[in-house]
Amino acid sequence: MVFLNGRFMPIEEARVPVLDRGFIFGDGVYELVPVYSRVPFRLEEHLARLARSLAAVRIRDPYGRAEWREIIGQLVAKQPFEDQGVYFQVTRGVAKRDHAFPADVAPTVFMMSNPLVTPPQELVERGAAAVSAADDRWLHCDIKSISLIGNVLLRQASADAGAAETILFRGGRLTEASASNVFVVRRGVIQAPPKSNLILPGITYDVVAELATGAGLPLEFRDISEAEARAADELWVASSSREVLAIVTLDGKPVGSGKPGPLFRQVHRLYQEFKQKVMRAGKERRAA
Ligand SMILES: Cc1ncc(COP(=O)(O)O)c(C=O)c1O
Repeated sequence: MVFLNGRFMPIEEARVPVLDRGFIFGDGVYELVPVYSRVPFRLEEHLARLARSLAAVRIRDPYGRAEWREIIGQLVAKQPFEDQGVYFQVTRGVAKRDHAFPADVAPTVFMMSNPLVTPPQELVERGAAAVSAADDRWLHCDIKSISLIGNVLLRQASADAGAAETILFRGGRLTEASASNVFVVRRGVIQAPPKSNLILPGITYDVVAELATGAGLPLEFRDISEAEARAADELWVASSSREVLAIVTLDGKPVGSGKPGPLFRQVHRLYQEFKQKVMRAGKERRAA
C-alpha cells in the first residue's frame, strides 16, 4: 500500500496528473527514512529536514509534525516486512505549465515504503570501490530536492565503472558523494566537510558524528582538499541506506591499506549497537 494525497491505496491505483509540477519541473522535495523492526530511525530529524527543504523552495507544508508521524506510522504498519525504507515526496502540485508558480496550489503528497536494503555483511567487511567526479551540481545541495538529474548522472558514472559510489570534488575540495556524505580518517582523526550549501546535511552524518564523539574518538569538521582525501588512511560514505560503509579503492587506487580501517570498524560497530538500542526503546514504548 502507498499513500497519495490523504488516501492509502495499492501502488497500481496511485495516479498523478501529468501537469503535476513534480513531473514537469522536478518541483518538489523528498525524504527517505530507514525503519528497523518497524521503528522509524531519527524520524524527528527527517521531518525537521523536510520542513527546512519545503521552506527553502516555498512549498506549503501540508501536514503538522504529528500528522506526518501518524501517516508514516500507518504506512509502516501496512507493509508485510519489518525493515523498511519510507520514501515520501511533496511536490508543488498540479498547475498549468508556467515556471512561476501559482500561490494557492495544493501540494501533492506521495509516500511509499519498500524493504530496506542495507549493505551485505560481506561488503561491510571487504569494503567498496568508488570513483571520483567533479561536483557540477547546483549550489543548493542542502535542499533535498527531487530534481536529482545531477546526482543521477554522477551516480551512473560509478555504476558504469562497477563501483558503489561517486566521490565529489568542487574547486579542489571534497564535498560529498552522489547519494551519501563522506568521512575521511587522517593520522587517527576522523574528518568531514562542514555543513554548508554544498552538501546535504545527512541524518546519518549526524549519527556517525555523535557516536564518534560519544566514544571519545577525535573528530573534526573542516575543509578537506582533494589531495588530502586521496591520501587519506580511510574513506567512508554514510547514508540512511548505506549506513556507514568503507571505500577501499578510489579510481582504482587503494585507499590507505586497501582494507576497511580500524576506525571504520569501530564506528560501524557503534552504529549497529545504536540501532539495536533505538529499536529496543521503540518496542518498549509501543508495549507501554
Ligand atoms: C546527496 C546526498 N548526500 C547525503 C545523503 C545522506 O543523507 P541521509 O544520511 O539523511 O540519508 C544523501 C541521502 O540520500 C544524499 O542523497
